[in-house]
Amino acid sequence: MPALEDLAYLSYCSQARLPMGQTEVGRILQASRRNNQRDEITGLLTFSGEVFVQFLEGSPAALQGLMNRLKSDTRHRDIIILSEGTAHERMLAGWDMELVTPKEAHLALRDALGEAGDYEKVIALSSLLAKLDPDLHRGS
Ligand SMILES: Cc1cc2nc3c(=O)[nH]c(=O)nc-3n(C[C@H](O)[C@H](O)[C@H](O)COP(=O)(O)O)c2cc1C
Repeated sequence: MPALEDLAYLSYCSQARLPMGQTEVGRILQASRRNNQRDEITGLLTFSGEVFVQFLEGSPAALQGLMNRLKSDTRHRDIIILSEGTAHERMLAGWDMELVTPKEAHLALRDALGEAGDYEKVIALSSLLAKLDPDLHRGS
């Protein structure tokens, strides 16, 4: 595990390239768990059917490497960073990559909207929130 002062976190949302089936999401999770164990990255992924929201924590170098791969992954686009910073301890130690519900992700986006300073980010987050509305995805 990296030294405590060397721990960073980052969350982003992105638009899935459609159609995005369960098989493809399964492939993403499989590669994520393999690589994240190797790179000591932990976190969460949620998928609404259209929008991904992911929370990641690990060393700054490991996160940078993953973000570079994510930016060139054509299975999604329009990556918006929701939050990033450094931390003293992992929030999700032992989670090499868990899939969570859109409802849980919705709460995280609402928090980010509350803190968003610039107009463009507010518009982008509002439109993503509408797509992730838990009422539209009951039972998921
Ligand atoms: C929404 C989304 C989330 C992803 N999350 C991760 C991740 O947490 N870790 C990871 O290694 N790859 C993740 N990937 C896959 C990477 O973009 C990339 O395909 C993969 O890391 C390449 O790994 P490989 O060289 O072992 O095939 C994700 C892809 C998508 C579309």
